Amino acid sequence: MILFVLCYFVQHGFAAGGLKNVPDSAYLFAYSSAKSNGHSGLLFAWSTDRKNWFPIGPEFRYLFCDYGRWGAEKRMLNPYLMKDAVGLWHCIWSLNEREGVFAHSVSKDLLYWAPQYYPRVDSKNNCLQPELSLDAQSGEFVVSWLSENGSERSYAYTTTKDFRTYSASKSYPQEKRLNRRESIKIMNQTEMGVVNKVGWAVVDGLIKKQQLEAYKNSLNSENAHSDSLRFSGLKPLEASFEAQASSSKKISDLLIGVFFEDINYAADGGLYAELIQNRDFEYALSDKEGRDPNWNSSKAWSLNGTGATFTIETNSPIHPANFHYMALTITQKGAGLKNEGYNGIALAAGEKYHFSAMLRSSDKSIASVLVKLVGKNGETCAEALVKAGTKQWARAEAVLTAKTRQTEAHLELVPQTLGHLDLDMVSLFPEKTFKNRKNGLRADLAQAIADIHPRFMRFPGGCVAHGDGLGNIYRWKNTIGPLESRIPQRNLWGYHQTAGLGYFEYFQFCEDMGAEPLPVLAAGVPCQNSATGGAGQQGGIPMCEMDSYIQDILDLIEWANGDAKTPWGRKRAEAGHPKPFNLKYIGIGNEDLINDIFEERFTKIFKAVKEKHPEVTVIGTVGPSAEGTDYEEGWKIASKLSVPIVDEHYYQTPGWFINNQDYYDRYDRSKPKVYLGEYASWGSTLYNALSEALYMTSLERNGDVVSMSSYAPLLAKYGNTQWNPDMIYFSNSEVKPAVNYEVQRLYGQNAGDTYFTNTIQLSNNKNEALSKRVASSVVKDSKTGDLILKLVNLLPVAVNSQLKLDGFGALQAIGKMTVLSGNPNDKTGKLSSTSIAVGEKFVYELPAYSFTVIRIPMLQPTGK
Ligand code: AHR
Repeated sequence: MILFVLCYFVQHGFAAGGLKNVPDSAYLFAYSSAKSNGHSGLLFAWSTDRKNWFPIGPEFRYLFCDYGRWGAEKRMLNPYLMKDAVGLWHCIWSLNEREGVFAHSVSKDLLYWAPQYYPRVDSKNNCLQPELSLDAQSGEFVVSWLSENGSERSYAYTTTKDFRTYSASKSYPQEKRLNRRESIKIMNQTEMGVVNKVGWAVVDGLIKKQQLEAYKNSLNSENAHSDSLRFSGLKPLEASFEAQASSSKKISDLLIGVFFEDINYAADGGLYAELIQNRDFEYALSDKEGRDPNWNSSKAWSLNGTGATFTIETNSPIHPANFHYMALTITQKGAGLKNEGYNGIALAAGEKYHFSAMLRSSDKSIASVLVKLVGKNGETCAEALVKAGTKQWARAEAVLTAKTRQTEAHLELVPQTLGHLDLDMVSLFPEKTFKNRKNGLRADLAQAIADIHPRFMRFPGGCVAHGDGLGNIYRWKNTIGPLESRIPQRNLWGYHQTAGLGYFEYFQFCEDMGAEPLPVLAAGVPCQNSATGGAGQQGGIPMCEMDSYIQDILDLIEWANGDAKTPWGRKRAEAGHPKPFNLKYIGIGNEDLINDIFEERFTKIFKAVKEKHPEVTVIGTVGPSAEGTDYEEGWKIASKLSVPIVDEHYYQTPGWFINNQDYYDRYDRSKPKVYLGEYASWGSTLYNALSEALYMTSLERNGDVVSMSSYAPLLAKYGNTQWNPDMIYFSNSEVKPAVNYEVQRLYGQNAGDTYFTNTIQLSNNKNEALSKRVASSVVKDSKTGDLILKLVNLLPVAVNSQLKLDGFGALQAIGKMTVLSGNPNDKTGKLSSTSIAVGEKFVYELPAYSFTVIRIPMLQPTGK
């Protein structure tokens, strides 16, 4: 990208100090657009005469409000911009019409804005039209605002020296208000804002920033469609490729991993093999914040036949953590209950299913229950009788064998006598789970993940890890132990999380795949998009509770790695894993809003883990994107603390990935390493997948600074998808990986730990649009000794290549070649595997729109 930016400035004649025929100063109007209801962020327009105004952009945003949830929140209302005595620009604004909170940010140049803060200045009323002034005598800033409570209007103010601590709010005489806001017509729209006089260089800087961003956007918007026009008539190209054995470096052997988040029904109803929905009657209206009246403790359950009623009770549960259960009354024979599963239950013909339930018939009226698996058309696929009739809770079990394949079966429970029966933890698991684990994972889905050969798995998210508000932070201790003792909670993606797939199961899955476990825990702050718990993510865990929060993190390390005699190690052993899990990495924070609240808590956690467990590598966080305030501030903190690895996230267009292949080439090798924890190009076409493959050659090239990477999100259930694109789509009975999956799988299965300098040069190498669409990477896998070439062609024509492998010693004459190719707009690609004659010199034609992996066994190791 740097090259493009330089070209841009050359073309547009930018040279420092070269401003001619421009005024010394101008008026700068700061506003947020009225028509966008505050979602536009901070906009600027300039004027030399205060009459004719020129918007920059138009509507190019220089500062975006990050308060609250996406959608209705993140509003900037009535921004007020003021320059202080030392030349810093302060911007304050109102956030919404409800809360007594305003926002503040500060900037040296109006371009880079410091982290935002949202001080709560009124617990009852709102805070509108905030104004800022400097009290010359006290040197304090005065923030005043309008409060509206119904028809009552009043003014209040607070003072601050540092925009961190504020005096108690007091009422403010209206006549003291500055009323500096004025209305100005911009593009035929009347906007309210504040005018400041500035030197022309300030306006010039703003314009240049907007132009640069527009230029970058034009690069980032390159896509399959624009490529078909750009390259129409292009003839096949010639290229020469060369790799040198004499120039190599060690790269991370953890480069390709997976990111598991319980989003899109990835866990319950997904990877977790439980087939009964709401098995414990713990679904709650609050899971969906009251929006769905049917989402309650009887969700997915219904009565079957006439003569049955139920209530949901709480007075004598099987466990205090699982306090709801069903009390069923049968008054007519044949009546019973039905569970619909997760939109039906899929059954495979001839396969066994393990049914279990906690049952109690206090009056012993019901002694047995018929358990049936029933197909869509009412046909019984399997049935078994289980005993009930005990006064205390007792576990009933049966194994059912499905007679036929079903995609939408359901479970029926038919008490065999009239009377009363309490039920809880009603469960049905396929016998064949991944590696036949009890309380295990869906075999087909887990296998698809394992086939990537991930070197690590991150869990349980994403945003799920830090939660929606303080109360929703994912607490690992709630997810271990007997299933009925685990504490379910609202999943911030709008559904229910049983915690049946908990930390033990995550660790076990990692072990079963040969992947390093990478648990990510909140940095003492919830999600930056939180909408609950006061002023969103600003409400970090109170400092007085941080010691106990940190102890939980230290306990996790003991639980994972401690001897079975340690208090937490014993719990792991009791769960069936006496040997330590050998946890080596732990993530703290997930793309948080990086401010003082974050820094204070993160630092405390980081130092505590480092001191107690220097053997565990802490991975920090640097915000949700590849640039911007959180990214900059996150990196500052990580560098200051010497955090070993930081977690970067970016979801971008294919054009971004094509044009930013040098992103890590310019990273300072002395700074923390990178875990690219979440990334994806927006889309599931072959073009998207190939843009990722292209970019991943740069991850391998920079495998000395990029230690880990994981495409995100991993799983998505059809019909329950909150986020697109995803790597693996699935239904109850099918697994349908997106074409992007094939790229991850090919990289995962063909990873190496040594990188060799290599180049692929087109004969037409002056055309950068062409050359940046062809990329290569060469690695060696020290375990097998194999040399692995990756070649990507994102052009509509073949690239005839002369390949030279220089100094690699004796190679086998035949390599294994896998090619992914096809139509760039298709959601699938053609995968072919063949052998290819290779040697020190050989030829290969990279097909149009393709990703090729050539794996060559070495006859003699090179010693590199
Ligand atoms: O991957 C989906 C979401 O994207 C993650 O939960 C979050 O970390 C990111 O914003």
